[in-house]
Amino acid sequence: MTDDQQLRVSKIKNGTVIDHITGGQALNVLAILGIDGSGDALSVAMNVPSDRLGKKDIVKVEGRELSQAEVDVLSLIAPAASINIVREYDVVEKHRVERPEVVEGVLECPNHNCISTKDEPVDSRFAVTDDGVRCEYCETIIRDDLPAHILVE
Ligand code: CTP
Ligand code: ZN
Repeated sequence: MTDDQQLRVSKIKNGTVIDHITGGQALNVLAILGIDGSGDALSVAMNVPSDRLGKKDIVKVEGRELSQAEVDVLSLIAPAASINIVREYDVVEKHRVERPEVVEGVLECPNHNCISTKDEPVDSRFAVTDDGVRCEYCETIIRDDLPAHILVE
């Protein structure tokens, strides 16, 4: 395939390109970033052929960089993603997401009796396991549908 054929969405000037997202997860990535389509210029490509992943999604957000907490949650649904920081059309930084051992303050425990969901100053803490995440306070495991448990900022 030539470059011309491969380019689905235009290059951005300043912002972040999240590439190599697990095919089909782009909309969940947008949910994690709190992007609802009303703000920043945004491009999304879904189920694009990829040598490494078979199919991948790409999200390009103009004028936005990501926080570590956002990258941590992204890694849970898109472990092969790469984050590219673009300035004046050049990729100035590129890094792979890393699966953290623990995510703190980014997911809400589904157990309503868990101390982290009570009116206490306790941030949620989940250990990241091979097949999901486990609350460090009450041992509740979240396997599927992680995006539904993301705390809004
Ligand atoms: N990109 C963009 N706008 C720019 C520069 C890059 O949208 N001004 C996008 C590219 O289309 C690509 C990603 O950012 O999806 C990474 O760009 P680059 O590092 O140039 O591409 P590759 O070398 O193919 O990246 P990798 O090795 O990570 O696959
Ligand atoms: Zn809990």
